[in-house]
Amino acid sequence: MEFPTKRMRRLRKSPQIRNILRETRLHPSDLIYPMFVSEKLERGDVEAIDTMPGQFRYSVDDAVSEASRLEDEGLSSVLIFGMPSAKDELASAAHDPHGVVQRTVRRLKEETDLVVMTDVCLCQYTSHGHCGIVVDGEIVNDETLEVLSRIALSHAEAGADVVAPSDMMDGRVAAIRRSLDDAGFQDTLIMSYAVKYASAFYAPFRDAVSSAPAFGDRRSYQMDPANIDEALIEAELDLREGADILMVKPALAYLDVIGKVRERFRVPLAAYNVSGEYSMLKAAIKSGYLTDEAIYESILSIKRAGADLIISHFAPDLLGVI
Ligand code: PBG
Ligand code: ZN
Repeated sequence: MEFPTKRMRRLRKSPQIRNILRETRLHPSDLIYPMFVSEKLERGDVEAIDTMPGQFRYSVDDAVSEASRLEDEGLSSVLIFGMPSAKDELASAAHDPHGVVQRTVRRLKEETDLVVMTDVCLCQYTSHGHCGIVVDGEIVNDETLEVLSRIALSHAEAGADVVAPSDMMDGRVAAIRRSLDDAGFQDTLIMSYAVKYASAFYAPFRDAVSSAPAFGDRRSYQMDPANIDEALIEAELDLREGADILMVKPALAYLDVIGKVRERFRVPLAAYNVSGEYSMLKAAIKSGYLTDEAIYESILSIKRAGADLIISHFAPDLLGVI
């Protein structure tokens, strides 16, 4: 037996060697922090989210001051989710120019240099909790596009840098692009939740923002977790419709999908490390089964799989360590 001349352990012999040879690095600018802003809250009423330990529902004032504090710690981007004080069948509050997201965006643009992204959807704003308009118990596609376009435009008018439709209706990217362009917002980016699966890992989020559907489920619009060829078609369609950034969601159970989309389309790619992925790790760390190093390792794996940007509730935990 010839003794090996190639010794892989040479590459790992010291922290300094490991550091210079590291293939993947997380940087604060990779992270997008999702924030929940409630119209029902007044300055100072910060509400802890039971299903997501360490995450909060903020008033507009508190969201802006927290975002600004995180900016000082190195954060680059936020993704804003709104909770209106009243819901209806048509999600009217979602495109109110004085709605909670629109107000938050205006303040963030005035008071910070953060990249301000907004979630564009109907589900927090509809009485039935679906991501589209409901007619006779069906989620109707084309009627929903008009509402989504109005929501996206109202966010752009408030100053959003990036609008991010999360509804999974067909043709929404093209519809939103057209309405933004027609109104002179050619420079507003679209980050499309292009590959969004019907996932059990959204449960803590739906609890956090009260957006669980009142009947049925989201399987007629979100993707079947079994499918990956379909993911590539979704990604291609959204690119053709004018998406600037594609997103895969969830992230950790879908690293193969992130890898495939990255390989096929050399375009900016985001991945959403969703609420269930957050709460699962937080619970394991709290009970002592895992240490918090598992956070860094998980988020690093999303970057290694091919994501350029990672939307994560762990953003504040990571800013200090990357
Ligand atoms: C709704 C929306 C969801 C998330 C982002 N936007 C949930 C859903 O589709 O039910 C999930 C976020 C998370 O779980 O962190 N359009
Ligand atoms: Zn939705």
